Amino acid sequence: MSAPEAALPGAAERARPYPGILECDVTTLLGTTVHVRPITPDDAPRLARFHDGLSERSVYFRFFSPHAHLRPPELEWFTRVDYHDRLALVVEVDGELVAVGRYDHVAETTRAEVAFVVADRWQHHGIATLLLDLLASAAYFCGIDTFVASVLSENREMLQVFLHSRFEVVARSESGVVVVEFPIAPKYDQPEPRLRVDGRRPST
Ligand SMILES: CC(C)(COP(=O)(O)OP(=O)(O)OC[C@H]1O[C@@H](n2cnc3c(N)ncnc32)[C@H](O)[C@@H]1OP(=O)(O)O)[C@@H](O)C(=O)NCCC(=O)NCCS
Repeated sequence: MSAPEAALPGAAERARPYPGILECDVTTLLGTTVHVRPITPDDAPRLARFHDGLSERSVYFRFFSPHAHLRPPELEWFTRVDYHDRLALVVEVDGELVAVGRYDHVAETTRAEVAFVVADRWQHHGIATLLLDLLASAAYFCGIDTFVASVLSENREMLQVFLHSRFEVVARSESGVVVVEFPIAPKYDQPEPRLRVDGRRPST
């Protein structure tokens, strides 16, 4: 979702306080410890810097068009979530954002649209796969049972993340875009995650 939209009906009532329970430290595939936490409105300047540091290719894959800078209403939309219908998790290293994953509930359904962006030099460390797992658990807890995503057909990395995930993904092509969809209910026989959470660091 690239543009600000009106809040969903009843969103204010469903809004939740900051879910510190979702904070955790994780060791990436290359052995770096990163911190994962829900986004807050204070992240707007960090998110702007993160976006400005992305390659044109990464921006294009995320937004399907060039998008040099995030405008103030977009920063507001992306950072001000209700932690129920809309959740974003950020990955931090030394106080700077290196990745963001988010879901947005699709009105009047039990589905949510999911999207990711990882800073170029942090790609292929298992971060998107980790965020997908964490977002799915959080979303399921909030009554969402299915994730959907629209991915440009040339975006091999994103498609690989979905197809290699623990979820049973169904994909269909629609004029250059692959729409993937999968149930997110936890399973008892699911494979081990690629990255393990080292420790929870709930905020005080
Ligand atoms: C797409 C994107 C989010 C992937 O992020 P990432 O953190 O690099 O992804 P991961 O490291 O979790 O996974 C990438 C690789 O691990 C592989 N992988 C993931 N899970 C795996 C598993 N269980 N077993 C083996 N390989 C696995 C993927 O196939 C992929 O491998 P490859 O690149 O060698 O083919 C990132 O490239 C990006 O930000 N791109 C620009 C923005 C974008 O495209 N967003 C998508 C919009 S929906």
